Amino acid sequence: MYVVAIASQKGGAGKSTFAVNLATLADAADAPALLVDTDAQGSLSVWHGLRESATPLHVSCHVDELENVLETARSNGNVQWAFIDGPPQADETVAAIMRVATLVLIPTRAALFDLSAVPNTIAAARRVRRPFFVALNAVPPKRGILESPIVSAARKSIRDMGAPVWRGAVAQRAVYAHALASGQAVTEFEKAGPATLEMRELWSDVAQAARAMASYRKAG
Ligand SMILES: Nc1ncnc2c1ncn2[C@@H]1O[C@H](COP(=O)(O)OP(=O)(O)OP(=O)(O)O)[C@@H](O)[C@H]1O
Ligand SMILES: [Mg+2]
Repeated sequence: MYVVAIASQKGGAGKSTFAVNLATLADAADAPALLVDTDAQGSLSVWHGLRESATPLHVSCHVDELENVLETARSNGNVQWAFIDGPPQADETVAAIMRVATLVLIPTRAALFDLSAVPNTIAAARRVRRPFFVALNAVPPKRGILESPIVSAARKSIRDMGAPVWRGAVAQRAVYAHALASGQAVTEFEKAGPATLEMRELWSDVAQAARAMASYRKAG
């Protein structure tokens, strides 16, 4: 089972948005994805409550229970992908969700205050020695193939932190809020829209990175 921890110490970065959208893409008829909500705000419970489908599966737990929850999923089910949604601003909790992860995904917005919070989250991933990459979220959409200068500058500032940054970016789009409010992922709400393309690209890269990390650890 691959475990993706979605972490950022900054509030509103897009952790819960990434969690529901990636888990829905990872969800398969014979292998349901699992969403693990460790945030007391309970955003995922609200979304799951609005949802018509029972999958992705959803469980809320305290970080102290994480190992047990993942062990149960490993031994009882055919879950292949688990996504942990973390709370903002809690060093110990962030470290705890990273520790159990195959891969850590760190969303951030491109604005100065958001970027200035990224080094703390990166440092936490390094402390627990887990592979990670940073993904820009809620950025101005591309014009044709041209990325906004804000995105290029943000990407460079993340690279300057010595951190890997996702080659794509998730744009700010109203469809994210509309999809969440209807208990859906963007890929269900607007199957052929630009947000769907971006999320599919993110999922493809997350899946590839997690698989690579898992085989690297097995080989080591
Ligand atoms: N790409 C996007 N386009 C438009 N709205 C977005 C996007 N990403 C996130 N949002 C909106 O921004 C708000 C914060 O996003 P989200 O709840 O996913 O962040 P979070 O990191 O989980 O926040 P918290 O730290 O409070 O848990 C939500 O209202 C969400 O709908
Ligand atoms: Mg959240």
